[in-house]
Formats: sequence, C-alpha cells, structure tokens
Amino acid sequence: MPSTEITIRNVTFKNPVLTASGTFGYGLECEAFLDVSRLGGVVTKSISRKPRDGNPPQRIAETTAGMLNSIGLANVGVDVFLQSKLPLLRERGATTIVNIAASSIEEYCEVLEMCEEQEGVSGYEINVSCPNVKDGGLNFGTHCPSVAQITRELRRRTEKMLAIKLTPNVTSIGEFARACEAEGADAVSCVNTFIGMAVDVRTRRPKIATITGGYSGPAIKPIALAKVYEARKAVSIPIIGIGGIMSAEDAIEFMIVGASLVQVGTALFIDPAAGVKIAAGIEGYLAEQKMDSVRDLIGSLDTSMQPSLIAAGWS
Ligand code: DHB
Repeated sequence: MPSTEITIRNVTFKNPVLTASGTFGYGLECEAFLDVSRLGGVVTKSISRKPRDGNPPQRIAETTAGMLNSIGLANVGVDVFLQSKLPLLRERGATTIVNIAASSIEEYCEVLEMCEEQEGVSGYEINVSCPNVKDGGLNFGTHCPSVAQITRELRRRTEKMLAIKLTPNVTSIGEFARACEAEGADAVSCVNTFIGMAVDVRTRRPKIATITGGYSGPAIKPIALAKVYEARKAVSIPIIGIGGIMSAEDAIEFMIVGASLVQVGTALFIDPAAGVKIAAGIEGYLAEQKMDSVRDLIGSLDTSMQPSLIAAGWS
C-alpha cells in the first residue's frame, strides 16, 4: 500500500485531503454520510471571539460552474466552539484545524490563545481573506504588512501548525506567501474565494444580498492552480491547495503543481463524502502509478520541453 501520510510541523495528516473552511460546518453535521476520521483533516468554519449572525439572506447562489456566497462569517463563537463542538470532533478522531477570523490583531490572538488551552486542536488556519465583511477580512488580506504582522503575533503564541489562508484577489500572491514564510508560518493555504457577482435579470437585483460575494467551485480551478504555482516558486514552506477540487484528478493536479495538502469545499455541497472519496482516488492513483508515497507527487510538475519539440528545433 502506498503511503498517504503528510506531516507539517508536528501534525501528521493520514491523507492529504481536508475539508475547506465554511463548507463542512464544525465537522459534525454530516456524520450520517462519512466518518470524519477518514479525512486527512477537518478545517472548521471560521471561529471568531463572539458569535456572529452573519449577513442577511440570500447568502448563496449557484452559477454556471461554481458557487457564489456571502455568509459574513456566521459562527457560534469560540466559547461555544470549545465547549460543545471541539470535544465531539476529538471523540470522533478528527484531525482538527481551527480556522480563525477576526477584525483586529488582538482578536486573532485572543481566539488562538483560548484554543491553545484545549486538547484536540492540531493547528490553525488564519482567515485573512474573507471577502464579505467590512472589518478585517480583505482589508488585512490584501495588505502585506498586516498579513506579516498577524503571522508574527500568532507565531509567538503557538507551537502548533500555523497556516495562513491567502486571498487570490491580489496582484502578487507570491509576495504575501513570502511574508508569511518570513514570519514563521508553517504553511500557506492558496486560495480563498475570488470576488464574484451574479444578477437576476428579471428583478435586476443581485443574486446575493451583499451584491458581491466569494466565488468558488470548478470554474476557479485553473486560476487557483496558477496561484499555487506562483506561491510554489516564491516559498519553500508547504502549500495547501484549494480551488474547485471536485475529483481525485483535480487534487492530484494541485499536488503536482506543488501543494502538500488540498482542501475540498464546494464539492461537499454536492456530496458531503467527496473528501473521503477523493482521498481513496488519490490512493488508487498512487498504486496505479506504482508510487510509494504521496509525497513524491508534491511539486513533480515536468516543465521541460518535449523531446519531439526540441528535435523539431523549438527551444
Ligand atoms: C466567507 C468567508 C470566506 O473566507 C470566503 O471565502 C467566503 C465567504 C463568509 O463567511 O462570508
């Protein structure tokens, strides 16, 4: 059997497939459909210091090849999360990555410090890239010094795995990845959603209440892959590849381009067990390719020119 384990800092993921933040609740809602311990890991919906109601409806709209959403970081808040969600995730044997969102550096630090006191948190993913809130969110994520400062402050406070989730809505994602690496992040998650919009032509109203939202799903995969490729060239820390992964082949593409782990999000709205199925598909591919370890896939992209083209005089 090929090895599917990936280790980042002090966390060993049993396979490289995680559920993406905000697409799998607190990892407990879909228990009827899958065993969460079979996932590489669960990334929680963003947790903030206080509970949040989020944005008014309509919050989600389907588009031709993707999904537009504007949830507004609705969540139960860190107290309820630690009291009534985390213990169940631990019982179920899930590798749990807590995603944290905040509107100030102090709030990020406070939420992380509260999580530090609990058992069952394997690491953190920091959301500096929510497209749907006025405070924090993209104001942080598109400002490199802020991303650097948040990374620095959180790094000082934890020995656990720290990943920063980057927005693709910037000119140079490589620059942001480099700032995270320089400040001690263990990984960067690439990418969060793209800003998108959809209009109902009969009412001439936007399809979601906040007018624009975060766009995800198969339509963004080639763009997300190019962002992972750009980040790969910029840093040597692990990259967590995210963006429109619907199948094992999609996930493998991200790993070949340089991702060490992947996250599945929009696909879960079609099939909550997609992550487990994709993990099994990757294992099948490794066996078929006679590869010993999934680690051999990471960054294995062959960009050399085909011999037949060289023979034909191309260079
Ligand atoms: C939300 C947050 C995100 O980071 C994202 O990509 C999309 C939506 C939200 O809660 O609105």
